[in-house]
Amino acid sequence: VNRTPLIAGNWKMNLDHLQAIAFVQKLAWNLTEAKHDFSAVEVAVFPPFTDLRSVQTLVSADKLPLAFGAQDVSEHVSGAYTGEISAAFLAQLECRYVIIGHSERRTLHGETDEQVAAKVAAALAHDIAPIICVGETAEDLEKHGPSAVPVAQLRAALAGVSGAADLVVAYEPVWAIGSGQAATPEQAEQVAAALRAVLVELLGDDVAAKTRILYGGSVKSGNIAGFMREPNVDGALVGGASLDINEFASISRFK
Ligand code: G3H
Repeated sequence: VNRTPLIAGNWKMNLDHLQAIAFVQKLAWNLTEAKHDFSAVEVAVFPPFTDLRSVQTLVSADKLPLAFGAQDVSEHVSGAYTGEISAAFLAQLECRYVIIGHSERRTLHGETDEQVAAKVAAALAHDIAPIICVGETAEDLEKHGPSAVPVAQLRAALAGVSGAADLVVAYEPVWAIGSGQAATPEQAEQVAAALRAVLVELLGDDVAAKTRILYGGSVKSGNIAGFMREPNVDGALVGGASLDINEFASISRFK
């Protein structure tokens, strides 16, 4: 199976909606100038909620070949949930993806495996592909080895998922996020292979073969090629380096 690689830029809480418009225009221009083959390598950006309407308008008006999505979604449908954003709202803004269970949500906002599973179900119910983030802390790694925590998190996230679900998995070791110390390609491959085995077990061979598994954690233009050579790594979830247009564009041109 040929999986189309996905290079995803998670802006986190950076770039307001005016900056987002300029950024997306320049990124699209940069990639187009470099003759980026968007059907060969998909490129997606994940702006803050308040930027999504601007990004949607720009992408649709200029027919830009970029995908976009949100950084989180509510597990609830609607109602008295102050500050929350529903999957229906994101679907209306044509989000193709939504990041779910990022380690910053899990650690700083106490997001549980159960909430992650409910958010995954909410996204799928609105035909938005969840990018399910899993990853171990340095302490987990020492105590339980490399794959145990990410595998358990993925199993929990898929609790309510069956059949031909369109989803993406992102393996992000917490110790590698924003630290400048990326995992090695071999470490990423070892965990990605274990995660694919979970996909085979829970969702079957076809879905597992189609599902992209990304690596995230201090990815930059200088180390992306090594990850992309691994058979079970199908792209990257990029944080810091996604805020630099040239750097992000060059990560997208990893080969
Ligand atoms: O979602 C992205 C990750 O948290 C990686 O962030 O590339 O700044 O290490 P980073």
